[in-house]
Amino acid sequence: MRRELDKLRSLAKGRIEGAKNREEIERIRIEFLGRKQGKLKQILNRIKELPLEERPVVGKLANEVKEEIQRALERKLKEMKREEEEEYVDVTLPGKKPSLGKLHPITQTLKEIEKIFSSLGFQVARGPEMETEYYNFEALNMPRHHPARDEYDSFYLDNGYLLRSHTSPVQIRVMERQSPPIRIIAPGKCYRRDAVDSSHFPMFHQVEGLAVDKNITFSHLKGCLTYFVHRMFGRDTKVRFRPSFFPFTEPSAEVDISCVICKGKGCRVCSGKGWLEILGSGMVDPEVFKKVGYDPEVYQGFAFGMGVERICMLKYGIDDIRLFFQNDLRFLKQF
Ligand code: PHE
Repeated sequence: MRRELDKLRSLAKGRIEGAKNREEIERIRIEFLGRKQGKLKQILNRIKELPLEERPVVGKLANEVKEEIQRALERKLKEMKREEEEEYVDVTLPGKKPSLGKLHPITQTLKEIEKIFSSLGFQVARGPEMETEYYNFEALNMPRHHPARDEYDSFYLDNGYLLRSHTSPVQIRVMERQSPPIRIIAPGKCYRRDAVDSSHFPMFHQVEGLAVDKNITFSHLKGCLTYFVHRMFGRDTKVRFRPSFFPFTEPSAEVDISCVICKGKGCRVCSGKGWLEILGSGMVDPEVFKKVGYDPEVYQGFAFGMGVERICMLKYGIDDIRLFFQNDLRFLKQF
């Protein structure tokens, strides 16, 4: 019987060592140590057959075998647990590529415009989107009931403010707190009560420009904006300064570029004219200087304002402004 117990011990240990999972360990435990049918129990059932004096010795050995098997089972379970916890990393697997986001085409265009003008010494200035009538109109030589206010169909707020309808109020804010020389651009959002169609949206972006100094002439305006057009649309793009009117500039000019699609021959994009209007500009009106306390006899300046959506549409051949605001990834991913 002692030999049987020794054999049982080594058999159990071998089986435990080779066990592959928890279920197998449990099966081994029942097979060897089960209270009713266990192999150890079966041997112990026959202890009565032994001579009286041998029984305690065999009983003690049986106990030792039982404890030893129990310990072996526990050790194996702990080992399995440890293996599960040690996460296995296969360093040879190809890595997961994180998908990179991109800047919105309008943001990209804004950055490009800023880059071009900062290379000419312009600094970026900003103003509030919620404005007073004074900054949006009055100080820009558009008194109450001035017909030009109609052009800027504005959103009026209950609190007496309005949403700025152009970035020109930033000109006033900068001149109020700085004295010449001034060279700034002011990028930002504008709002107008326009019906939505392929070229109008109630919110859009402009970049304003303002240069004030002694001896600033219309030639500076022309040189500056021609340089901008050549860098933005390419050196072979033609530039035309067409007389126009703005209450806050005198003289005023709208800037046209030769059509980026047909190169001036005339097509649907330029309605057969060969030219595309891209911005408004002019020499700062003396009335505006008076409003901010600059002496128009001493200082001159030029200003301009451009629509960023329009520039972006012309640059990339986009035919509908609404595409910028629908956030369709199939559109945005192309830039
Ligand atoms: N503020 C004008 C507009 O929105 C553009 C402009 C700016 C014209 C500066 C002249 C000088 O239409």
